[in-house]
Amino acid sequence: MMRQKSIEILRANDKGGYTVPTSSGLYPAQWNWDSCLVAMGFAQFDEGRAWQEIETLFSGQWPDGMVPHIIFHGDDSSYFPNSSVWRGGPSKRSSGITQPPVAATVVRYLAERFGFEHTLAHLQTLVPKLLDWHRWFYRARDPEGSGFVAVIHPWESGMDNSPIWDASLAVVPPGPSVAKLRKDTTFADVAVRPTSAEYDRYINLVMMYRNENYDEGRLYDIAPFRVCDVGFNSILLRANRDLRFLLESMGDEQGVLEVDSMIARSCDALERAWDENDAHFYSFDSISRRYIPKPGIAGLLPLYADPEVSRRHPEIIARIKKWLGDVKYGVPSFEPGRPEFESKRYWRGPVWLVVNWMLMTGLRENGYEELARRVRKDSLDVVEKSGFHEYFDPLTGEGLGGTDFSWTAAMVLLLSASE
Ligand code: DGY
Repeated sequence: MMRQKSIEILRANDKGGYTVPTSSGLYPAQWNWDSCLVAMGFAQFDEGRAWQEIETLFSGQWPDGMVPHIIFHGDDSSYFPNSSVWRGGPSKRSSGITQPPVAATVVRYLAERFGFEHTLAHLQTLVPKLLDWHRWFYRARDPEGSGFVAVIHPWESGMDNSPIWDASLAVVPPGPSVAKLRKDTTFADVAVRPTSAEYDRYINLVMMYRNENYDEGRLYDIAPFRVCDVGFNSILLRANRDLRFLLESMGDEQGVLEVDSMIARSCDALERAWDENDAHFYSFDSISRRYIPKPGIAGLLPLYADPEVSRRHPEIIARIKKWLGDVKYGVPSFEPGRPEFESKRYWRGPVWLVVNWMLMTGLRENGYEELARRVRKDSLDVVEKSGFHEYFDPLTGEGLGGTDFSWTAAMVLLLSASE
């Protein structure tokens, strides 16, 4: 039943070569990490469509290697800020920032699932593009060579309104109010979305970057928001390892060496982010030069990056167990019981299946099969209870945000297949 419904949702949200996150009008375009994760859902029943999703995304790659967080293909009038606001890239039909780089991980997944020989033509097209994108991260977003790659907009982290960004975003000038221009709240309850104060700053950042023509050489220096997100960097580290695997299997020794150096830099940076006293991985504000002591789900993602991390830091497992003990459905996106925790507001507490999939994978690879099973079960149970929502209240299981959501459907297909 759930499998059939998932397939129906992906088919319904398929706009011809790319999938919208939901057909409701809330997100009428192609989102970067949504699309990549959705491709793993397509892979469960339609291989060709899975590859197409990724290839359509990379058709929007910029000449400098950046892959934008949104590619606008069709009518985007129900979204703000749409293509007429962003005007990014050579086509002026994309945003001007990026999103968590899950693509290499997904391409490896597809290659292993369908076989290297069979998928070689896709790999020959995609792997050089992936390498260009990964080079861009270390060049454009880590010019200081710290190994900790920065995001310059909360949207780049994918976890838009996580409490982790509160202080770093508060110092960004709000610019003119965009309360009247916002369209998200016509599709989803205002109480479960980012606040107006956050939205004004999100848009002001877009305006500042657009004024610089999204120039890679300028943005890092002028960005008033610049954070080395431990979640983003964990996703990048895993993607580096997967990219290395792909390059090696294609015999590209030079590429392997290059990615080895990215891996070494990222491993060092993540290790520095471990806070011994609080037993958590923390993000770093690269403007105030301080770590941000807020226990969000991003700080658990080193599990997904590194199968050895729980050996070095077993306290991270105790932390997950504690969080799971405090909620009905795991995994909450922020630590329950903290003053900033809000069980219904987007990334301030709700459960997101895509992150659950990452944690389940990481727990399994770190040898915690039972905990991985709990995460898998909660993910499937919450959809069974409330439907294919964008995210869920961890205390009640209530479905929140958009409905018939593509990445939720994709994760149900993937999790059902991974008993
Ligand atoms: C939104 O509009 O809420 C998106 O998360 C931005 O990418």
